[in-house]
Amino acid sequence: MKAAKDGSGAMRKALLLVGSPRGAKSASRMLGGYLMGKLEAGGMETAEMTAAAALQSTENQHRTHKAVDAAELVVVAFPLYVDGLPAPLVQALELIADRRKGSLPASPVAGPRVQRVAAVVQCGFPEARQNEAALAIVRQFAKEAGFEWAGGLAMGMGGAVTGKPLDKAGGMVRNVVKALDLAAAALLEGRDIPEEAAALMGKRLMPTWLYTFMGNRGMKRSAKKHGVLKRANARPYE
Ligand SMILES: Cc1cc2nc3c(=O)[nH]c(=O)nc-3n(C[C@H](O)[C@H](O)[C@H](O)COP(=O)(O)O)c2cc1C
Repeated sequence: MKAAKDGSGAMRKALLLVGSPRGAKSASRMLGGYLMGKLEAGGMETAEMTAAAALQSTENQHRTHKAVDAAELVVVAFPLYVDGLPAPLVQALELIADRRKGSLPASPVAGPRVQRVAAVVQCGFPEARQNEAALAIVRQFAKEAGFEWAGGLAMGMGGAVTGKPLDKAGGMVRNVVKALDLAAAALLEGRDIPEEAAALMGKRLMPTWLYTFMGNRGMKRSAKKHGVLKRANARPYE
């Protein structure tokens, strides 16, 4: 694919900011990574960083600011934590917003004229709508930090896709793949993520009873492995 350039002749760049601490196993990274792959196939240059790494040192904070300044599109991919964003991601977004608002000494260098933020969020509960407040938080970040909001995708049943590359996760993720393909096509054209993509992403991956059954089985296996299966229903404070 021919490299895509912006109006000034520079490469079009997209940055993936991953909010999960789970590394390679992260469902957020897997979804965000697939989207980045599609953007790259469409000619954009892509880069990836985790929120934790972005905060790790002053040097990394500078790298983050530089990468954000250069990006035409920042995709924030994260798991839902307690109906909100994981704490390191909140901190990283605050750092970016503070600098862009001029509250930090180093002011942003000139980058692409229009900069956009999109979000991909997924959660452990079966319903995608659990993520609505978290998406609204990222939209508010975009507004306060001077980005255009390009829209978001929200998925439930995140536990079902953990650790598997999307192209190896089978028919269960067909709607997710379609949603991300549609989103990538729109973002490449400078359009917002379409409603159709958001609706496909929000579809259940499997019947709720099956997801709950598998989740419970996984929890029991884990409890057994750690020798606490018999105490799994303990209520020590009652
Ligand atoms: C501290 C913590 C809080 C969580 N809070 C929620 C929650 O409020 N609602 C929910 O549906 N899932 C919640 N989850 C589940 C994660 O969103 C889910 O496991 C997700 O798939 C993890 O994504 P990742 O692999 O990218 O880290 C929570 C998980 C953790 C570890």
